Amino acid sequence: MFFSLMNLFNRWILGLILSVAVAFAFESVTSDELSLPEAFQKISDQSLLWGPYRSNLYVGIKPKIPHSFLSGLMWFNADDPEGIVKLRHSCEQDPEIQSFGWVKYDARLGGRHIIKDRGCKVLIKSDFVKTNDGNWALKITGVPKKGQENVKTSLVFYAGTEEDQDNVLMFAGNKDESGNVNNDLTRLTGVSKVLGGAFELLVEDGPSNRYPSATVLASPDLNPSLTHHLSLHVPDEHLWQAKEVFISLLQESIGKIRDDPSLNISEIAVDQLTTLRNVNNFEGNLHFIQKTFQGKFELNIIFNLEESTEKLSSSNIDSYVDRALTHFDEKFSSQLQFQAPFHTKEFLNFGKEFLSNLAGGIGYFYGEQLVDRNAFVDDDSFDNVKLVGKPEGPSELFTSVPSRPFFPRGFYWDEGFHLLSLLDYDSDLALEILKSWFALIDEDGWIAREQILGPEARSRVPAEFQVQNPNIANPPTLMLVFAKLLKMAHESPNSEDDFVSIQDLSENMGHVHLENPEILVDYAEDIYPKLKKHFEWFARTQKGETVGLSRESKYPNQLYRWIGRTKDLCLPSGLDDYPRASEPDSGELNIDLLSWMGLMARSMKSIAKLLNKADDVHYFDIIEQGVLFNLDHIHWSEEDKSYCDITVDDDDNDVFECHKGYVTLLPFALKLIPEDSERLIHVLQDLRDPDICWSQFGIRSLSKSHPLFHSGEDYWRGNIWLNINYLILDALKHYAESPSALPDVQAMAKPIYKELRENLVTNVYNEFKRTGYAWEQYNEETGQGQRTRHFLGWTSLVIPIMKLPEELA
Ligand SMILES: *[C@@H]1O[C@H](CO)[C@@H](O)[C@H](O)[C@H]1NC(C)=O
Repeated sequence: MFFSLMNLFNRWILGLILSVAVAFAFESVTSDELSLPEAFQKISDQSLLWGPYRSNLYVGIKPKIPHSFLSGLMWFNADDPEGIVKLRHSCEQDPEIQSFGWVKYDARLGGRHIIKDRGCKVLIKSDFVKTNDGNWALKITGVPKKGQENVKTSLVFYAGTEEDQDNVLMFAGNKDESGNVNNDLTRLTGVSKVLGGAFELLVEDGPSNRYPSATVLASPDLNPSLTHHLSLHVPDEHLWQAKEVFISLLQESIGKIRDDPSLNISEIAVDQLTTLRNVNNFEGNLHFIQKTFQGKFELNIIFNLEESTEKLSSSNIDSYVDRALTHFDEKFSSQLQFQAPFHTKEFLNFGKEFLSNLAGGIGYFYGEQLVDRNAFVDDDSFDNVKLVGKPEGPSELFTSVPSRPFFPRGFYWDEGFHLLSLLDYDSDLALEILKSWFALIDEDGWIAREQILGPEARSRVPAEFQVQNPNIANPPTLMLVFAKLLKMAHESPNSEDDFVSIQDLSENMGHVHLENPEILVDYAEDIYPKLKKHFEWFARTQKGETVGLSRESKYPNQLYRWIGRTKDLCLPSGLDDYPRASEPDSGELNIDLLSWMGLMARSMKSIAKLLNKADDVHYFDIIEQGVLFNLDHIHWSEEDKSYCDITVDDDDNDVFECHKGYVTLLPFALKLIPEDSERLIHVLQDLRDPDICWSQFGIRSLSKSHPLFHSGEDYWRGNIWLNINYLILDALKHYAESPSALPDVQAMAKPIYKELRENLVTNVYNEFKRTGYAWEQYNEETGQGQRTRHFLGWTSLVIPIMKLPEELA
């Protein structure tokens, strides 16, 4: 593979780039003429410009701008002949990595990331900081494992620019005749219009680094005690594959050594053999800088725009790091006060790490998405339809991800839960992400449930899952975010007069929308038309059948079924293998979808209210009434004492499909059951019954008494997921505190709430301590974390859960 890649790249070798001396003037922000919402947007964009936005990498900085610049860090153990094979770059679920992640991170200032690399016998700390005028820096520190003080670690930093947009990046230092670079400082210079003109990229060694001694050198250009630089031309669409490029360059160098009769390859030390050298005198847009250290090391990577005023340097980087970490601590403590029994230092740090990892996983994705707009969903045999994707776009998405090593891309139904966890710390950031998602809603109102934009994102997805289809829905969880935000805005002190100056906006970044009705309304106006289209797409495409069936409702339009289920799976529902009617039928009606539609109608109604759209308030109110009516008149099974799915028998009469668990609990979890309903008692009984939903570690996805409990793939068939547990907890609080709830309901809900809250957090915390990771789901019997590790998507809902009160009044 490496050699064929090499050939590919050789074809693009275009020779020297002409040095471009044109500096583009940096468009400075004069905010005098800007409206408040515009001024806010400008400041927000600046503070979020740079970030670790290649979520799939351990260390990878790029801006939130397509066609510009990207960078990444790789490393390997240079003592071990096998070291290079295990070159670290993308996050992996690798047992050699004891743990990794952000310990503190603020999306606007930066933070600290730590990787405990057992295999390389080194801990790698990377501090990332940025300024408000477009500069950033990374401080990389390596600390060998105890007893390994002389371990050799080879570090490869790379940076590249995409050329088709007038971006240039060049080596600007001196090299000796063997191509080696001075250890202290490596300097690259560049120009990029989209980034703000001319810039400088410095790679600077710390004062006390040690380098491997090289007394017997196979060749002068293989000296591991010196810094090595190599650049070459790589076409824009392959820039992200820097690791493969690096490996192929190294392969070529090793090949040349092997062919050299004056050298005996088995006598060359590993740290020399794995040294990058420029055997072909390439030059170009992708730059590699390799340094090999012995023992502990320190390295600063600093990006400064020429026109900026706030320059970063090795002498001030520490103060920026301190500023970011202190700001994070202070903001966290003021925004998130955990309640008993989680008001201790241990839980505070646990919460900080979870939040940092969620925010540090935010990525910027850009590129084409594969869509099949012609495939019809098969409603006869309910088989998988083979989708043939055509590229659409390119589009962009700013989003957090469920798991950096395993799901490093945007997932529609996960995202609502991510943002619920982010809201308390930085609701402006959550809204920025929400807006990015809503921008993807197409002409028909559809949005793909999985966002696989561009080749880098696609490289992590098996081919059979790459293509999206515009008949397929997914739970509209982003509506939860808006509903909660409006509630927060309502409760937040109105400080209309406070934020008038740019200074005020900058200092209050994180809760500007909440405290400024003008900005919030402007935001809502902006997204409302797309949201409405989105709602109508759901209502139109996921409508249940009534024609020719015996079912009757005065609200026939508010009955729904998930389109695109197969015999065994209902992927659109998000609950993949959760049991449904064993014989799929186009007459099926799904209670979870009805609940999501109710949530959506209710949220749309509150946004319409905010915007004083009386007609729309009325329109969504009728829909909500229809959902609530059908919930109680069509979906309630008196026999099962539960809200259930429905299918039809041979005579086309409705029959209930009651599979107790998350699906039947959803009307409750989304607070759609009337507050004064007696049926709540039955829901609470199912919740608390150890033979049905209740386990010591949270609410089970499927009843323990169900015949399919823990069967088949066993994905949503019993084990515990934090997302639905969060909703249930929130609903318990809602009903327990509702003045119109029956006394029995209140009396039952309160202790369940208290116990469930404690069980959930305690278990996720214990498993984090035990394994070093957050997990995708938790075993209902043992509590153990399982499936994907480093799952800081919705598992981070423990943060808002710790903020909830311990006891309900
Ligand atoms: C190369 O070095 C190895 C290890 O020292 C030795 O066994 C081998 O004979 C050498 N080969 C040649 C061709 O000198």
